[in-house]
Amino acid sequence: MTEKKAYLNIEGHDPIELPILSGTLGADVIDISNLGSHGYFTFDPGYTSTGACKSSITYIDGEKGILLHRGYPIEQLAEKSDFLEVCYLLFYGELPTAEEKSEFIKTIGTHTMAHEQLSFFFRGFRRDAHPMSIMCGVVGALSAFYHDAMDITDARHREITANRLVAKIPTLAAMSYKYSIGQPFVYPRNDLDYASNFLHMMFATPCEEYKVSPVLAKAMDRIFMLHADHEQNASTSTVRLAGSSQANPFACIAAGIATLWGPAHGGANEACLQMLMEIGDESRVDEYVERAKDKNDPFRLMGFGHRVYKNYDPRAVVMQKTCDEVLAELGINDEPLFRIARKLEKVALEDPYFIEKKLYPNVDFYSGIILRAIGIPTSMFTVIFALARTIGWISHWNEMVSEPYRIGRPRQLYTGHPQRDYPE
Ligand code: ACO
Repeated sequence: MTEKKAYLNIEGHDPIELPILSGTLGADVIDISNLGSHGYFTFDPGYTSTGACKSSITYIDGEKGILLHRGYPIEQLAEKSDFLEVCYLLFYGELPTAEEKSEFIKTIGTHTMAHEQLSFFFRGFRRDAHPMSIMCGVVGALSAFYHDAMDITDARHREITANRLVAKIPTLAAMSYKYSIGQPFVYPRNDLDYASNFLHMMFATPCEEYKVSPVLAKAMDRIFMLHADHEQNASTSTVRLAGSSQANPFACIAAGIATLWGPAHGGANEACLQMLMEIGDESRVDEYVERAKDKNDPFRLMGFGHRVYKNYDPRAVVMQKTCDEVLAELGINDEPLFRIARKLEKVALEDPYFIEKKLYPNVDFYSGIILRAIGIPTSMFTVIFALARTIGWISHWNEMVSEPYRIGRPRQLYTGHPQRDYPE
């Protein structure tokens, strides 16, 4: 931390001295936590200029297109690591040794089954319910299953909770899909790696085994890894805020899932695929690009733009490569939907509107295409994002709870009526 100071001059007041804090990377921050004692609050809807916490998990430089987990660039992790290793890295802070890794894989394996009672919980939902709505419910319901063993001040309890979440979330995600199509739940197979096991639970039936293609399993693992954490985004901030009241962590993760569901956040990959289907033909791409540019039309190109990245999203670079691999493996490069996607990507990247506003395809543009190619239904896209982001959420929750923290309580600029009397 540096000794730099900022001074806030408000008419009629002495200058208010505010400490400036420096992290290891990124912009310095002005510490305004004592401003309230001077009778002022800051106003920053959407939190575009507000840091809400200290964190050592993930660093993003949106201008330069950099994403680091515990200091490691995402491109290197995508090349050399795998999802479970990244889970370990995010939660514990360091890459595991070979021994620690195999121990971790074993631990996760011991927690993959969902409590049998949960399958009855599923039956309370309509078959046509969106799988994200089911996920909000069943993940929140885990708090009813593990509440007694949950002392959030105990580091070991927090670790077990994180392990349970990472292990069970693919099982619950696959169950929410199976339920929606009326097929029986498929139990996890601990002899398979994490991504292959998920594909198995999604696509196997009691009558037929699902043979997992290594290319598709690797693509799935990459999708999980590239969505594992993204610092203080809307859903992670929600998990922190919910956790700040000392709420049950499973309930906090359910709050994160609810936040992720929106099309401006995790719902974008589903919205992107729906948009591609709506476009329907390569010949209509220009028309949709024109609509996205029209200020009087609310339509936006889904899968383009990002709040933080004003450069190419580094995850999108990796995803684009994986997308090519998957389409080639499946031999479906030429299918109409993927041709529309390619044309849209090209047109948008060359259009001055998108260039000036720095609107590049984001990770969800490519992940949606890959998931579709693997055969994952559109309604499951955001569920898969939630599955992957669970480790990020629980790592941030754990980081917050491990140190002194206060309940999150933003202030407001009140614009309602002044005090008035109830009519006689
Ligand atoms: N298509 C057309 N124009 C766009 C798009 C888009 N996808 N995204 C932004 N713009 C325009 C806006 O109209 C605005 O124009 P203006 O300056 O003339 O008013 C300008 O670019 C800036 O956009 P904002 O909405 O202010 O940017 P913000 O940072 O608030 O929004 C967001 C970022 C929500 C991601 C936005 O780009 C968007 O809606 N994209 C489509 C949805 C999407 O793909 N979301 C996924 C995000 S990634 C993730 O969650 C993993």
